[in-house]
Amino acid sequence: MSDYKFMLESHLSAEQNRALTAVQNAAADVGLSLFLTGGAMRDMLGGFPIRDLDFTVEGNALKFVKTLEKLPDVRVVSVDDNRKSAELIFPGPVTVEIAMARQEKYAKPASKPKVTPATIHEDLRCRDFTINAMALSLNKASLGLLLDPTNGQADLERRELRIVSNYALYDDPGRVLRMIRLKVRMGFTLEERTQNQLANVREAELLDKIPTEVLHKELLQMAQEMNPGQVLEALEQEGLLKLFSPALTGPKLNSAGFAKLQKARQQVPFGTAFQADMFALFLDVLLEKLVPKERAGLLKNCAITKADLKVYDKLQANAKKLERALKSAKLKKPSLIYQALRDVPGEEVLYVLAHSAERLVVDRIKNYLQKYLQMAEEVTAAEIEAEGLKPGTPKFEKRKQELIAKKLDARPKKVVVEEPPPPAPAPILGRAPREQARARGGY
Ligand code: CTP
Repeated sequence: MSDYKFMLESHLSAEQNRALTAVQNAAADVGLSLFLTGGAMRDMLGGFPIRDLDFTVEGNALKFVKTLEKLPDVRVVSVDDNRKSAELIFPGPVTVEIAMARQEKYAKPASKPKVTPATIHEDLRCRDFTINAMALSLNKASLGLLLDPTNGQADLERRELRIVSNYALYDDPGRVLRMIRLKVRMGFTLEERTQNQLANVREAELLDKIPTEVLHKELLQMAQEMNPGQVLEALEQEGLLKLFSPALTGPKLNSAGFAKLQKARQQVPFGTAFQADMFALFLDVLLEKLVPKERAGLLKNCAITKADLKVYDKLQANAKKLERALKSAKLKKPSLIYQALRDVPGEEVLYVLAHSAERLVVDRIKNYLQKYLQMAEEVTAAEIEAEGLKPGTPKFEKRKQELIAKKLDARPKKVVVEEPPPPAPAPILGRAPREQARARGGY
């Protein structure tokens, strides 16, 4: 196995590795050239956690998506017919993007591009930043070969964002928003030519031409960031926040609300199976300080749909109910707290953690996130199967919950430490034996 393929596998979670293998096998079956690209490559080589798996195929990507859709528990979330790409969810859940290797030609700046099929090399040269323009071959003959035509690896080392071409930001000014988001997330700087291009794009008033759907997508992406408040602040400094809403400025930016949300999110240990709708939580903070007219303006500017608001609309009311339930004196045992939180959507848990003034409630949630969840994960399917139960059956699930409850409620075993015999008392110098004894409390 090549070094890069090994590096990739060791960077991915078990579910991501399974998704990778499934996509790789499916591509080999239909004879398509497959590459891992974009953010997944950047994050692997930069040592960041890999969020999504971005694949590029040379050939008919949407036909390939139809093949993948037939795999068990795989569903397609969205399809872009113009760019010939689609987003899928694999078990885990793992987000997978499949895109056709393409060239994008722009008749004029900030226009809709003409998309044509291309080779992987041509595709990489049409991308935004060099650190996003690398690919790893997942094909048998060249497995693990790294393609890095614009030297993205060096920029990763220099911690710089550098545009791939002289037109990258002109063609697609929405990339400026991506650039600020990446800069904040990775703590990188902007290379000089990139800064100049940004200044020129601003001068040419192209930033006002960023389409509504790009603002929409950016807001969704921002919500997934570890520190969305900082991204918004960076956008404000660049004078870009007004594109989303002119009202979002000064105290209305709600930096304190974002700091609180980030603090709550940091309580979730890395790698635990905890899912939360971060967009609902993000919107809640984003809109908190705005008056109804300003809220409506922001939602319209960014084409936020009713479907986008579904979870957000119920968040506060559901969280209040959860807070009440968590105050109950009946929740005496860890297993009862675990059960009270186990099936609650993660966004409600984080909302209560960020907002509750009840110490008891906050402590219970912290224990759940930091202790109980991990302890519950230690109960393995293998030990239940060993009792002759079949995974997926109600009996299996019941037994699993029994074992989890037993584990959570078990008193921690006392460690018996053999105490050394007490040292002989030191003589009190300069006194007679009787005085010494009195001084020690004797006689
Ligand atoms: N891309 C681009 N121009 C854009 C959007 C995307 O060149 N306007 C390219 C980049 O190479 C990017 C890849 O498409 O890496 C995938 O895009 P996307 O999934 O939106 O972002 P990621 O870079 O994967 O970042 P994230 O970690 O935020 O998902």
